[in-house]
Amino acid sequence: MGPKYQLFLAIQFLVLLFLQTNVICYQFKVGNMNAWGIPTSANPNVYTNWAKKYHPKIGDSLLFLYPPGEDSVIQVTEQSFISCNLKDPILYMNNGNSLFNVTSEGRYFFTSGEPGHCEKRQKLAVSVLFANGSALPPSYAPEGSAADSSTPSYPTVFGYVPLKSMSSPVPAFSSKIAAAIGVIIFAAINYAM
Ligand SMILES: *[C@@H]1O[C@H](CO)[C@@H](O)[C@H](O)[C@H]1NC(C)=O
Ligand SMILES: *[C@@H]1O[C@H](CO)[C@@H](O)[C@H](O)[C@H]1NC(C)=O
Repeated sequence: MGPKYQLFLAIQFLVLLFLQTNVICYQFKVGNMNAWGIPTSANPNVYTNWAKKYHPKIGDSLLFLYPPGEDSVIQVTEQSFISCNLKDPILYMNNGNSLFNVTSEGRYFFTSGEPGHCEKRQKLAVSVLFANGSALPPSYAPEGSAADSSTPSYPTVFGYVPLKSMSSPVPAFSSKIAAAIGVIIFAAINYAM
C-alpha cells in the first residue's frame, strides 16, 4: 500500500466521520410557522400535528420564533402542561428567538408563558427518541389506574393539513457543503493516484 493510498484512506475516513457527526443535527422550527403563538381557528391543532410528524433527536434543537415582548416559551412538567399551570416553569425564554437544545431523550412539554395562551392550545409535547429509534414509554399510567382520569384526550385529527406548513426541518449544518467537500477531496485524490 503506497503512501498516497494511505492518505486517501485517512481522508476518506475523516470525511465519513465528519458527515456522520455533523449532518444529523437539525434545528426544528416549531410548528413550521413564522410565529410561535395561539393557533388560528383554521389550524387549531397545529402543535399536536407537528409533534406527531417530527421527532427531534439528541443534538437537535427546537426554535421558537415570535415577536419579543408579545409572547414567551416555558418548559413545564407534564402535569403543568395538562392543567395549564404557568407557575414554576422548568425553563423560561422570552427573547423572541428561543432555542431549546435537546440533550437527552424523553418527553418535553412547552407552552406559552402568557396567561390564557395554553388554554387556547398554544402548547407542544415533544418526544425525543432514543438513538435506536424507540420512544420513551408514556409517563402517564396505563388504563384503569388512578392517574387515568387526568390523562388528556388529545384530539386525533386526520383532516387536511395545508402543505405549506409541512416544510422539513432546516439542517443546522449544511450537509450539502460537507458532502460536496467530501466528493471533491475524493475526486482529487483519485486523480492524484
Ligand atoms: C442552546 O444553544 C444555543 C447555541 O449554543 C444557545 O444560544 C442557547 O442559549 C441554548 N439554549 C438554552 C435554552 O440553553
Ligand atoms: C432502545 O434503547 C433504550 C435505551 O438504551 C432501551 O431502553 C430500549 O429498550 C431500546 N429499544 C429497542 C427496540 O432496542
